[in-house]
Amino acid sequence: MQVGIESISFYTSQYYIDLKTLARQNGEDPNKYYIGIGQERMSVPPPDEDVVTLAANATSQALEGIDVNTLDTLLFATESGIDQSKAAGIYVHELVQLPRNMRVFELKQACYSGAGGLALALPYLLHHPDSRVLIVASDIARYGLGSIGEPTQGAGAVAFVLSTNPKIMTIDMESGLYTNDVMDFWRPNYTDEALVDGKYSIKMYSAALRESWQQYVNITGRSFTDLHRFVYHLPFTKMGDKAHQFLVRYAGADLSEAEWKKQIDDAAIYQRYIGNTYAGSVFLALASLLDNSAEDLTHKRVGLFSYGSGSVGEFFTGIIQPDYQKHLKVDLHKSIVTNRQELDYDTYKEFYSFKSNLPSDGSKAMTPRYETGRYRFAGLDEHKRLYEVVQ
Ligand code: COA
Repeated sequence: MQVGIESISFYTSQYYIDLKTLARQNGEDPNKYYIGIGQERMSVPPPDEDVVTLAANATSQALEGIDVNTLDTLLFATESGIDQSKAAGIYVHELVQLPRNMRVFELKQACYSGAGGLALALPYLLHHPDSRVLIVASDIARYGLGSIGEPTQGAGAVAFVLSTNPKIMTIDMESGLYTNDVMDFWRPNYTDEALVDGKYSIKMYSAALRESWQQYVNITGRSFTDLHRFVYHLPFTKMGDKAHQFLVRYAGADLSEAEWKKQIDDAAIYQRYIGNTYAGSVFLALASLLDNSAEDLTHKRVGLFSYGSGSVGEFFTGIIQPDYQKHLKVDLHKSIVTNRQELDYDTYKEFYSFKSNLPSDGSKAMTPRYETGRYRFAGLDEHKRLYEVVQ
């Protein structure tokens, strides 16, 4: 029996800042961001958007045409959760009106947890072949104004349905795994902004890639040439270039620059304009590959590498299915990326800083209304988050 992705969709906020605006503010050459880290725009959530509203929008899109009564599990992957106790997925469950007979819970391990959820769901589905599992990876990447990580922020959610009817991509059961306790990126409970040792995190990413790739090869007996395209966790698109060059060298593959770039470039298109989506990043990259590849990828094996700082890495693969194009949401995705409003620096800063204006004493505070999708974060009352469906 085959298990894999039946449907996939993403959503991001309706506002962005161009990184040349940020470069001007930070006294940097725009090409450091455009070329050096490979990022051009960065999604910025308005005050009435959070990981729940991003996720609910991605979820309702991914569930189009799916019988929701067959869903029995929703796994919400995030590292920017809104509550230490209650899973953000429960709000999503209510907003998109999912059946009561489901389990919903939250997963965390930096940017890795979406891939972790996928790994748990595969054997589960083999034992429950009539069920479907929904995974939603939703995050808002925040590093701090003027910080080294600032140009690598972003926001977005990716939702995908796993089932025994994998119309888009089957996932192979074997994967390579790696865990190592390192402090390359973390966020203590008392701060809203991630702390990062940027250069060290790039080294740790590469170490995790090497070790999980090696285990994948040892277990499967496959080699580099068995894989047609590569999809990486992309905190910034240049990271994908660095990672793939590293893997090409490590695997001893003899490829020209044009050849190795072709293996990764389609997967980096959405990320370049949205920024880091943390747990969703590797799946946003997969959506980007599927939507933007001019080549028919049917029957091709694709390699995916998920990395979560701290750190966990997993290298896994899947095979693209016949007629997968019919099940993609290419026009919707492209319009989401294209139809956003550009922010000037002051409005970006105002959106960024809004979170710290929310009361923590239980008093009522409603959020100002901005452009959102179908769902918005309406405010707080008695320490409870209020959401509403936009008519
Ligand atoms: N034109 C073109 N390229 C330029 C440039 C210019 N004017 N100025 C600098 N660059 C290049 C640098 O040469 C460098 O390229 P390289 O990495 O290939 O050597 C790149 O731009 C970045 O410059 P650097 O000085 O290293 O940037 P930085 O000290 O600001 O740090 C990150 C960059 C990515 C480490 C930082 O943004 C960060 O910490 N991000 C968050 C952490 C993260 O995403 N980690 C990834 C693993 S999960």
